[in-house]
Amino acid sequence: MKFFVDTADIAAIKELHALGMVDGVTTNPSLILKSGRNILEVTKEICDLVEGPVSAEVVATEAKDMIAEGMKLSAIADNIAIKVPLTWAGLTACKAFASEGKMVNVTLCFSAGQALLAAKAGAAFISPFVGRLDDNGIDGCELINDIRTIYDNYDFQTEILAASVRTVNHAIECARIGADVMTAPPAVIKAMANHILTDKGLEQFNKDWAATGQSIL
Ligand code: E4P
Repeated sequence: MKFFVDTADIAAIKELHALGMVDGVTTNPSLILKSGRNILEVTKEICDLVEGPVSAEVVATEAKDMIAEGMKLSAIADNIAIKVPLTWAGLTACKAFASEGKMVNVTLCFSAGQALLAAKAGAAFISPFVGRLDDNGIDGCELINDIRTIYDNYDFQTEILAASVRTVNHAIECARIGADVMTAPPAVIKAMANHILTDKGLEQFNKDWAATGQSIL
């Protein structure tokens, strides 16, 4: 499973990248706001750091305006994935970009039918929002499972990018189902290293080691 990091925080990306945990980056207008940076500048900086796909999202609602914004974002670097919303206009823009060989991430996906349309429009990635579905009492991982089955039935090449991943359990479940990629905030990726029995085991080993009176160095 590829890990994309869901942030525009350069320091956080650098920390995870140094450990080989970053196969790509996703951003959205809310994350750009949180970064306090100019979208073109911060996206360029991320693209210079990370070899894999970096998603940059359009904000227009009409297809022709999305295409104009997407072309500008795409010019930032070769590894830009243009992110468009799952609306009819977004699918129109997706098809136009895909026909030119550009990588598109179709975002704000909440149903298997939407995912099927994105694949047919040539999306490189479909982003089903696991956490936001869970917030609304719908099983987000079940959607990942449905899309996996549908894409495999017809051999669609669109990669399932599990988004809105909020917990370690979301990440594990998406990996178990076979999502191609997950994008998660840095804190969720780092939390995957934690286990209470690891902490307890380490505490006991440290205590016993101190009792030996030895030192390795
Ligand atoms: C990434 O592509 C999405 O925009 C992001 O994962 C949404 O996450 P959120 O629901 O936690 O805002």
